[in-house]
Amino acid sequence: MPNSRTDTASSQRPPLRLGIAGLGTVGTGVMRLLAENAALIERRAGRAVTVTAVSARDAKRDRGIHLTGIAFESDMTALAARDDVDCVVELVGGTDGPALALAQATLGAGKALVTANKAMIAHHGMDLARISDGGDIPLKFEAAVAGGIPVIKALREGASANRIMRVYGILNGTCNFILTKMEAEGRGFEDVLAEAQAKGFAEADPAFDVDGIDAAHKLSILAAMCFGTQLDFDGVATHGIRDIRAEDIREATALGYRVRLIGMAEQGEAGLTQSVGPCLVHEDHPLGYVPGSLNAVVAEGNFVGRLFFEGAGAGDGPTASAVVADIIDVARDEYGPAFAMPVDQLQAMSRADAGAGTGKRYVRLLVEDRTGVLAEIAIAMRDAGVSVESFIQRGSEDGRALIALVTHACSGDAVADAMRRLSGSSALVGPPMVMPILDL
Ligand code: HSE
Repeated sequence: MPNSRTDTASSQRPPLRLGIAGLGTVGTGVMRLLAENAALIERRAGRAVTVTAVSARDAKRDRGIHLTGIAFESDMTALAARDDVDCVVELVGGTDGPALALAQATLGAGKALVTANKAMIAHHGMDLARISDGGDIPLKFEAAVAGGIPVIKALREGASANRIMRVYGILNGTCNFILTKMEAEGRGFEDVLAEAQAKGFAEADPAFDVDGIDAAHKLSILAAMCFGTQLDFDGVATHGIRDIRAEDIREATALGYRVRLIGMAEQGEAGLTQSVGPCLVHEDHPLGYVPGSLNAVVAEGNFVGRLFFEGAGAGDGPTASAVVADIIDVARDEYGPAFAMPVDQLQAMSRADAGAGTGKRYVRLLVEDRTGVLAEIAIAMRDAGVSVESFIQRGSEDGRALIALVTHACSGDAVADAMRRLSGSSALVGPPMVMPILDL
């Protein structure tokens, strides 16, 4: 039975009229979701949500969605100027170029902007938020971080009373898919990357995924949101997973750990630390259980304690879910400053010296299997002040050995010093691999 109160409320307000730029995987997902859940969305939003115009590269392609009666703009920036568009949904991607021009035109025209574009927000979020704040115009980007997980909303609203000192997690589904597959099937990196690309959740240029850039975009947005600090994408120390070998996964497992690409942001007296890179996570840590292409975010608030969010970080359905949640907020007139406080309140933070941070580390060395090599490694460690907690050596038939060790807590600088001392050694047959161990 219809709810008369809701029906009256919806009918009193005109529909929210959308202009959607980009009809790729996410764009078609958004169109499908808006169509399939239209009645529910109208009841929740208190008004209908309609699509009046779209823009895409190819007007004719059959995407399996209904576009009859919807205007088509070949120049996406034109969406912002249309009288029948109240809210532009940018699903094109790209740091600058057409996506940024559209975002600026939309906010400049006083219209709401919903975007899934993490690269654009990481690089230009402050400038866009300034326009948004100045005109009290909605700027929403839930889908830019961790896909379908409503983590922006949770941290921006649900946890907004807390001082958050640390936020971290698995922010790239492609890397998690690769690492968990390598772990489960003992396969090599390149082989599994090809499978991730075939499945369609890797970025158009998978270097963004495997070199950690995509996770760094998301981390910088989370850090600004959680800490009330200015966006500092360039301050994220970023490392990818290309150099992880099947042997690293095997040895980490033998030592009781999993290898995961972790984004970590901390605010401390020394300043802001932001890093993305492969880490060892204890096999019992919740992040060690995040399977396949899922994402997970952990935030620690001073009153709420530890919050853990897990879900799909990519894909048409989950990303559409986040995009349409933002659209519903716009329809309800529920928004507020994009970064949880006016942009002029976001503090500039100095960057902490990342190398000074202490913790245990995993070190993998490929060496010649001959007398004195172990002593050489031990001396380098000793001279750099690094103490070894546990150690595995495996020889192979080609006269080489793989050494995997875990250090006691020490600074990153100390381990780097030990590696420098070893770098000229004729015993090394490949570059060493060092990964921090997450101990939280
Ligand atoms: N390429 C991204 C990932 C898609 O793998 O997580 C979602 O941002």
